[in-house]
Amino acid sequence: MPVVTFPVEGRDNCAVVDGTPYVYATVRGEGFVMRARCAHRGGPLHLAAVAAESARLVCPWHERKTSLTRLRAEIPAVRTGGRVTAVIPDRRLALVRPCSAPPAPPALAAPSAPSVELEHRPLSRDLARAAGCG
Ligand code: FES
Repeated sequence: MPVVTFPVEGRDNCAVVDGTPYVYATVRGEGFVMRARCAHRGGPLHLAAVAAESARLVCPWHERKTSLTRLRAEIPAVRTGGRVTAVIPDRRLALVRPCSAPPAPPALAAPSAPSVELEHRPLSRDLARAAGCG
């Protein structure tokens, strides 16, 4: 699992790990690191609104709602000042195989290091309000 440190706001506020973007968001005063890509069709979850009636994010593409509780639990992270360090799940290890399939043979080579790039993603007002970006 890659451990990535990046700024909570500004130019490099998004860590792209093996092609998946992650940002630091703040909702109702509580900060957390989240995937900036919707699980439905890859919409820009960093631009999501917070549903007024519940603790859910609303994706701007198809308005599918995602539980904030689930998002907060997904990525362990610690904020220190203007930076956050997150333990990003290694999606290459998350391949699912049926229970009846024979066990996979042992890996012959060590997995390659994940690619990590930093870039900027603007956050919606609902996700940036308490972080001082909105
Ligand atoms: S891509 Fe987010 S709801 Fe469809």
